[in-house]
Amino acid sequence: MKKTVLFVCGTRPEAIKMAPVVKAFAAHPQAFEARLCATGQHKQMLEQTLRFFGLTPDVDLAIMKQGQTLYDVTTAVLTGIGDVIKKLAPQLVFVQGDTTTALAGALAAFYEKVPVAHIEAGLRTGDKMAPWPEEMNRLLVSRLSDFHFAPTEAGRAHLKAENVTRNVHVVGNTVIDALFECVRIVERDYDEAFKKEFSFLDPSKQLILVTGHRRESFGEPFAEICRALADIVRQFPRVQLVYPVHLNPNVRAPVDAILRGLNRVHLLEPLEYPKLVWLMKRSHFIITDSGGIQEEAPSLGKPVLVMREVTERPEGIAAGCARLVGNRRESILNGVKELLTDTAAYTRMAKTANPYGDGTSSQAIYDIISRDLP
Ligand code: UD1
Ligand code: UDP
Repeated sequence: MKKTVLFVCGTRPEAIKMAPVVKAFAAHPQAFEARLCATGQHKQMLEQTLRFFGLTPDVDLAIMKQGQTLYDVTTAVLTGIGDVIKKLAPQLVFVQGDTTTALAGALAAFYEKVPVAHIEAGLRTGDKMAPWPEEMNRLLVSRLSDFHFAPTEAGRAHLKAENVTRNVHVVGNTVIDALFECVRIVERDYDEAFKKEFSFLDPSKQLILVTGHRRESFGEPFAEICRALADIVRQFPRVQLVYPVHLNPNVRAPVDAILRGLNRVHLLEPLEYPKLVWLMKRSHFIITDSGGIQEEAPSLGKPVLVMREVTERPEGIAAGCARLVGNRRESILNGVKELLTDTAAYTRMAKTANPYGDGTSSQAIYDIISRDLP
């Protein structure tokens, strides 16, 4: 009998990482009815991502409010998804990652006694306050889930340490599937158009791509990050920064106050995924606190400086493609100095193989579920 599988996503990274899995299931309509529920935890940033992947949600809960609190998102998603599950009666609910949407989606499925499959399972920092609230979200999603798709062996080991051993599969990270598809499309269809669109960039200056949005950095740490970015353009006249700024008001306020109007700092609106990928490819290196960008950059040969005190993605650090520089002004600047002045250090970081996946994760997830879902 045909099974209904419900995919739940709410934010930009969930959409990027879930899209290839939704497509893998949608390619087998005789076996599965693939349904997509967008919670709308993000609005514009989610819509632009789903549009690029050609996905139209079957349901959009449209819950986003400006400056929303964790209570707002958790309660709205929980009740909203509960109703969707009651109506669609799926045999399996997929959630991705560690957002509030993932937690509330898994909890609603549990309340409706529907099994949960977790994409990107087993990531841990061991510190429940960093990233906050994501570390706790992932712990709780693991307890609620029946299928666990870990990107690396480290994920399996973390789950085992928490006595989660059934239906744990190491499949790589689906973000690499999404990235490879995006790179193909960008090279085929968009290269010329993007060259025109970004013609304000100076080809004689090295390009550093920046993103940042973590809740635990809000306030003074985020201001420090911005001051470090201002120092970079002041001290290195041959670099330009491109920074697509997250729509969270806690991010935009310090960015506007400290960086807007500075020479060689290009502040942009959040970019559609193909534009971001195009800029990553053209960058010299990347400074970010993003989880997804840490995973993508090694596939494009770009070193990453991670502006966080801890990361749940130590594989990149161990492999040598990423460096944890913290969120203090001095340490960020030191990391940048090294990459701009030490060619050997730069080349080592740029030439490291990607430890997060090889572009086949979604097919692996499809194969396992079609074999093992009762
Ligand atoms: C959320 C996730 C975080 C993930 C990030 C990806 C939680 C707790 N946090 O954080 O794990 O890394 O998404 O980007 O789940 N906004 C808009 N339009 C948008 C998106 C956001 O205006 O399309 C603004 C709104 O004012 C919104 C605010 O950003 O209230 C915060 O959005 P929210 O999803 O609560 O938090 P993020 O910081 O985006
Ligand atoms: N991204 C994007 N446009 C942007 C910034 C990021 O498409 O302007 C992509 C990026 O390539 C990665 C994902 O969004 O795949 C990461 O999202 P984010 O940093 O918001 O969340 P995180 O991965 O930290 O949860």
